[in-house]
Amino acid sequence: MNVLLIGSGGREHALAYKICQSPLLKSLFIAPGNAGTLNLGAKNPATNVNLKISNHSEIVAFCREKQIELVVVGPEVPLVAGIADDLRAEGVLVFGPNKKAAQLEGSKKFTKELCEKMQIPTADYGSFDSLEAALEYLKTKTAPIVIKADGLAAGKGVTVATTLQQAEKAIYDCLDGHFGSAGARVIIEEFLEGEEVSFFAICDGKNFIPLATAQDHKRAFDGDKGPNTGGMGAFSPATILTEKLTAQVEREIIAPTMLGMQELGADFSGVLYAGLILTNQGPKLIEYNVRFGDPECQVLMMRLKSDLLEILIASAKGDLSGIKPVWHNNAALSVVMATKGYPGSYNNGSKIGSLNGLENKNVKIFHAGTVQKGNSLVANGGRVLNVTAMASSINEARKKAYEVVENIDWNEGFWRTDIGKKADKDIK
Ligand code: AMP
Ligand code: GLY
Repeated sequence: MNVLLIGSGGREHALAYKICQSPLLKSLFIAPGNAGTLNLGAKNPATNVNLKISNHSEIVAFCREKQIELVVVGPEVPLVAGIADDLRAEGVLVFGPNKKAAQLEGSKKFTKELCEKMQIPTADYGSFDSLEAALEYLKTKTAPIVIKADGLAAGKGVTVATTLQQAEKAIYDCLDGHFGSAGARVIIEEFLEGEEVSFFAICDGKNFIPLATAQDHKRAFDGDKGPNTGGMGAFSPATILTEKLTAQVEREIIAPTMLGMQELGADFSGVLYAGLILTNQGPKLIEYNVRFGDPECQVLMMRLKSDLLEILIASAKGDLSGIKPVWHNNAALSVVMATKGYPGSYNNGSKIGSLNGLENKNVKIFHAGTVQKGNSLVANGGRVLNVTAMASSINEARKKAYEVVENIDWNEGFWRTDIGKKADKDIK
């Protein structure tokens, strides 16, 4: 089968790495990809292609030309823009939800209303498009409190305000056009206390299959300090999410979501990623994403034994019966190396030393913002490399990953040194 994978992050490099292992694959195209997907190895039938993702007719034309039978959409922006609808209209199989179902990530109000209707545990909230009404509501609340832009804001639309003044400023920023149309509406949400975990399920419109669990590290610096980022490292399994809690999440959150979406005529297919807080009253949903987490995907792909392509095809065809993903019992951990300055402003173009000889069967260096310039590997983004290791425990995987991180020659890079440490207290 010929496959087109859309995206350019560490998530897509990890997906490409797994798709290339499938006996079902003939050729894989990655649009636009990065230096990692460019150099997947001589035996891998993968090629980067420079397509304009926002131009859906260009993607459709490419699929016709190359006889693409499956498109796998990595990031949320094209899904929210309806790329799956446009491809399906042309008869191309797509892994990922259509525009209506992608509202689960594209509109926080949509998700909150679904939670209300289906009685899914989540934070209390108010939704406002007028400044006066938002400020009136805020007066009735206490800090900490969470302010969110309604739409997609590239991970920057959420402020966890520790004072009401900070909350007020975030409301002004949001409704003042800081986040463009994404902030035309603001959500004011109860602050939930507890540990944050990610839960992933593959869905076929009607049914879902839970994937392995993972935990991300959102803050830029050690000890969960500094600004929120896309994620600075991840590990799997998330030992804090016990079997009992997992069953509760499936029963109280994922199953009613699938049902609620069907009732709306927005059957969800693709990967459903629930951002959860484990509160004293049980797991509560803080957000849905309609794609794999990045860097959570990297650790999941290390641990997945089964043929990923077979799973993606089954989801795209709307029938997951017969699919039962098998996982390595080992743990996996990924350390994100980012350009100094990220998630604020940073410079592209710094040289990264050779990565030759640093990888082996259980250690992979997934690329995110990288480009190949002649013989040089060059940083081209905030998050740049994801050093991902698999071993018998999270501790061992951490040791292996950091050994490689320390051997990468890149002056402009920084990384957290405590990825996976928070798992220590959960390991019995
Ligand atoms: P989001 O973009 O929705 O993932 O939010 C970014 C981060 O803000 C999350 O990863 C959480 O750490 C935090 N957050 C969001 N909503 C809440 C909430 N209701 N209570 C506590 N923390 C939250
Ligand atoms: N790692 C968080 C995300 O992908 O949104």
